[in-house]
Amino acid sequence: MKDLQQQSGLPISLDETGHLQIDSNLRGGEMSMRKLYDLKEVAQDEITDADRELYYMYRDVHKEEDEQEIRSNNLRYDMTVILPGMIGNEFAKTLGHYHPMKDGQTISYPEVYEVVSGRAFYLLQKPRKADGGYDFSNIEEAYLVEVKAGQKAIMPPDFGHITINIDQEPLVMANWVSSSFQSDYSEIKSHKGGCVFITKSEDGYQVEKNPEYASCPEVKTLTPKELAEFALIFSHPMYQTGMEEVSKLEYLDKPENHIENLSADKVFDDGV
Ligand SMILES: [Fe+2]
Repeated sequence: MKDLQQQSGLPISLDETGHLQIDSNLRGGEMSMRKLYDLKEVAQDEITDADRELYYMYRDVHKEEDEQEIRSNNLRYDMTVILPGMIGNEFAKTLGHYHPMKDGQTISYPEVYEVVSGRAFYLLQKPRKADGGYDFSNIEEAYLVEVKAGQKAIMPPDFGHITINIDQEPLVMANWVSSSFQSDYSEIKSHKGGCVFITKSEDGYQVEKNPEYASCPEVKTLTPKELAEFALIFSHPMYQTGMEEVSKLEYLDKPENHIENLSADKVFDDGV
């Protein structure tokens, strides 16, 4: 058992099977899982071990006393565990999705992730805008953001995102997100994955282009900035800092009020 209380700010631990043990005093946390089979449309290689469990999602985890504040601000806090392992030559990853454009706006909802344990690589890809929507085959910007335990990373508006676990331990992460929308998995599926695949190489990992996309730029490696204005402090759990100053989470449900501070260059630094 690994106690995650200090990193997450919640009475939660990770058991030997990669499942979260959530204290019975917490609310929410209903678990759903994805198996290799669920990723058959987005894997570079053919899936052979279809019944293997890949990741566990725990939705809407919260303390009872925070419930009203979370609901009235249209927020949700989820946790995910991605087991280590390979999908053919690719490292374990999530299915990946886009968020829809907000009604009456020209940008989609952002999201923020915290790495509670392990290390995450987030593949972010921004499609070209066209006719009031997106041209999902042409990616204008693509980044691989490396996020270590304790760090938090905003997924800026308009970026589809996929999480990759290249290490040999479970990756535990949390997210704050607006509760006002549902994610769209169809465009990642119809392009058979993200615009690149992160695969094993002799010296660690490599980035391989996905031929299903008409265009995809060179993928830059970035790291997240510490953004106190969005209640993101690397030494403090974002559940706690978010609940202490919930107004600083407004950008998640009302990104239109914060557009100028949510671009990739504002939320990321160049990687080393
Ligand atoms: Fe998302």
